[in-house]
Amino acid sequence: MEKSSQKSVMETIVSLAKRRGFVFPGSEIYGGLAGVYDFGPRGVELLNNLKRVWWDANVSMRENWYGLDSGMFKNPRTWEASGHTSGFSDPLAECKKCNTRIRVDKVLEAIGVTADEKMSEEEINTLFDAHRAEIACKKCGEHNFSAVRKFNLLVKSNLGDFTSDEAEPVYLPGEASQGIYLDYKNIVDSMHPKIPFGVAQIGKAFRNEISPRNFLFRTREFEQADTQLFIKPNENKEAYESLKKERMEWYLALGIREENLRFKQHENLVFYAKDAWDIEYKYPWGFDELEGIHDRSDYDLTQHQKFSGVDLRYVDPKTGEKYTPWILETSMGLGRLFLAVLTDAYYEDTVNNETRVVLKLSPKIAPVKAMVSPLLKNKPALVDKARKIYEELKKDIPQIMWDDNGNIGKRYRRQDEIGTPFCITIDFDTLGEKPEMENTVTLRHRDSGEQERVHANELASKIRAVI
Ligand code: GAP
Repeated sequence: MEKSSQKSVMETIVSLAKRRGFVFPGSEIYGGLAGVYDFGPRGVELLNNLKRVWWDANVSMRENWYGLDSGMFKNPRTWEASGHTSGFSDPLAECKKCNTRIRVDKVLEAIGVTADEKMSEEEINTLFDAHRAEIACKKCGEHNFSAVRKFNLLVKSNLGDFTSDEAEPVYLPGEASQGIYLDYKNIVDSMHPKIPFGVAQIGKAFRNEISPRNFLFRTREFEQADTQLFIKPNENKEAYESLKKERMEWYLALGIREENLRFKQHENLVFYAKDAWDIEYKYPWGFDELEGIHDRSDYDLTQHQKFSGVDLRYVDPKTGEKYTPWILETSMGLGRLFLAVLTDAYYEDTVNNETRVVLKLSPKIAPVKAMVSPLLKNKPALVDKARKIYEELKKDIPQIMWDDNGNIGKRYRRQDEIGTPFCITIDFDTLGEKPEMENTVTLRHRDSGEQERVHANELASKIRAVI
C-alpha cells in the first residue's frame, strides 16, 4: 500500500471530492465564490457522521455537558464586548504591480519572523519594512507593496436595516463560541449545572479571510464544533491538560494516524487567550492547525458582564460563593477535519494490475456503510432477491446503498473510492442454485478486497459490529 506524493494527494483529493459527490465549489455555475464550498450527497453524509461522533463524545455520552444551538445573528454589542470589532483582524498589504493581496503575518512567518497579534498597524509596518527586501509577490515577483493595513475579519449583514447604510451592522458570527457565552446564564438558570460543567455547540462562522486557500482549510464560511468548559477561577491547569489529552484521543479513536497528529503551543496569543495549543494535522503541505484549545480565563464572561450590565457570576449552591467562571475552550473546524479525514484515508494500491483508489475511512464515519447489488442487472430473479435483501437491510441500518450500474468490478471500484466498508453481491447461489448456499451472499471487505460467503441473515449484525 503506497501513499502518493504529497502534492498529487492534494490534487487527487480535490478532484475525487468533486467527482464522487463529496465537495463542490460553491455557486460554481456562476464562476464560484472564493472561499466557499458545498458538501455534496456523499460529503453531507460524511460530515453528519463526523458531527454525530463528535456530539456523542462531547454531549450525549457525558454527564454535566449540555448541547446548544444558538441563533447566528446576535445583538451587535456581542462583537464589541467580545473584542472582535476592534481586535479581530489580519494584517494586509497589496502588491503595487499586480494588486495581489498578502497576509503579512503569514509571509513574515514563512521567513522566520513572528508578527505579534497585538501589534498596532504602525508596529507591523515597521516590522514589514525591515523585511521587505526578502518578500516577493507570489504572483509577479515584485517587492513593491502598499503599507500594511489591519483588516477586520468580521462579515457584516444589513439585517433589520431598512433605512440607511449608517446603522450599526448585525455581524455574522466570527466564531461560534459567542453563542455559548450569551446563553451561559440561561443554561445555568434552566439546567442548574454544578461547576465544572460544559456546553457544546456546532455552529457556522464567517470570516473575511484575505486569502482563502487550500480547499476546505481556509474558507470564508465554515463550521466549528466547540466545547466550553466552565470552571472555578484558577482551576485551569489540570483541566486544561486533560482536555488536551481527551481531544487527541478523540482523533485517534476516529482512526486518524498518530504520526499525522501533534500538539503545538502558540507563542503569539490571540486577544482572548491566556494559553493556547493547537492540535495540528499533517496536511499535504505539512503540519497545520486542525483544532484550537484555549484557556480563555474569565475574559469572555467578564466582557459580556461589563457590556450587558447583567450579573453573570456563578453562585455556588452549597457555599453561596459568587464568582465569574473561567472558560477552557476546544474549537475544531469541521472543514479542516473533513480534509484531514480524507487525506488520512486516501490510499492507492494495485488490484488485478490496475491502480485502485481507496478511502480507508473508519466504518463509523463512512458515508455509505454497505452497497447491495445483483451480480447481473438483466436477470429479474437476481434483481428481485437483491432488492429484498437491500430493503430489509436499509430498515435496520442507515446509509445502505443500491447499485446495479456497470459490471461488478466497476461497482467495487466506485465504492472503494467513497470508502464503503462492505459490498454485498447477490448471485445465482443466493437463489439456491446450490441448495446448501441458498440465501448466502458475497460480502466483500473494502481494505483487503477479500470476499467471504455469509448468510443474508448475518449481514446486519456483521455491519453493525463495526459501525
Ligand atoms: N472560538 C475560538 C476560535 O474561533 P480559532 O483558532 O480562530 O478559534 C478555531 O478557530 C478553529 O476553527 C480552527 O482551529 C480551525 O479548525 C477552524 N477555522 C478557523 N478559521 C478557519 C477558516 N478560515 N476556514 C476553515 N476553518 C477555520
